[in-house]
Amino acid sequence: MKRYQIGVIGAGNMGMAIVRGAVRAGMCPAADVLLFNRSAEKRAARAAEGFAVTDDYTLLYTSCKMVILGFKPQNFDEVLSALRPVANAKPLVVSIAAGVPFARMETVLGADCPIIRVMPNTPLMIGKGASVLVRNRAASEEQLAAVRALFDSMGVTAVYENENMLNEVIPYNGSAPAYVYAFIDAMVRSAQSHGLSAEDATRLFCYSCIGAAEMVLANHDQTPAELTRAVCSPGGTTIEAVHVLEKRGFADILAEASDKCIDRAYELGS
Ligand SMILES: NC(=O)c1ccc[n+]([C@@H]2O[C@H](COP(=O)([O-])OP(=O)(O)OC[C@H]3O[C@@H](n4cnc5c(N)ncnc54)[C@H](OP(=O)(O)O)[C@@H]3O)[C@@H](O)[C@H]2O)c1
Repeated sequence: MKRYQIGVIGAGNMGMAIVRGAVRAGMCPAADVLLFNRSAEKRAARAAEGFAVTDDYTLLYTSCKMVILGFKPQNFDEVLSALRPVANAKPLVVSIAAGVPFARMETVLGADCPIIRVMPNTPLMIGKGASVLVRNRAASEEQLAAVRALFDSMGVTAVYENENMLNEVIPYNGSAPAYVYAFIDAMVRSAQSHGLSAEDATRLFCYSCIGAAEMVLANHDQTPAELTRAVCSPGGTTIEAVHVLEKRGFADILAEASDKCIDRAYELGS
């Protein structure tokens, strides 16, 4: 019998962010969420938050309507082979692992097992995630909508039909925070060389990033390129900076970094 709404095998950073988000959004009470952790210490901490806990993920697989696979890609072989004897349970499976294709999960869980793959990113932990979802053939539109609603409660989502899109999007959501942190780090170091404290530089530049991103999202009439031009008055300061970015190939560097990132995602999944 399916006693729990949601179960998580591998309740780590991402898995916990998702179920805490679900509870916060009022989708289900913590007592309707069953978590698997190997360590007794972690299970006790999760139980203190009001979640149900278990040290047996085959039991979890058979007793939850939705099962989130929150462990790392390198643990898939071990966990999938342990789930083989209970593969007839057919919960709605949600996998957040990068590069583990439907085919690998269906071989064990069955092609008739509904599976939704999600590429989330870490800002999901503060309710500002950007997640991409793809369903397999066995998952219905309704099941996709239910999982999408879960991730919508923790940020924004996009849905694609082609599984390959989960690789193609990685630079723009899953890995994107690292691009942004690298940008912030470089700007803060530059600011420090001009006498700003790291604290002021971080606060000023991060708020500039947030403000500029919100201007892009709110401004449907102007493209980011047009907004850039709008900040560049002729003979002014910004145009000098933009010229250097263009001369040194800022856009080409980002395109090359993204190509490499996507190539690696395909390599990991092959
Ligand atoms: N972090 C990101 O930016 C990001 C972005 C997109 C996707 N993802 C995906 O999200 C998934 C989880 O990442 P995370 O950052 O949340 O990792 P994490 O915090 O390390 O959590 C992984 C969990 O897996 C559990 N685990 C480890 N070995 C296991 C095993 N042999 N059997 C069952 N469970 C096992 C751990 O369990 P114990 O609690 O028992 O130790 C831990 O709670 C990964 O597949 C990753 O690809 C991450």
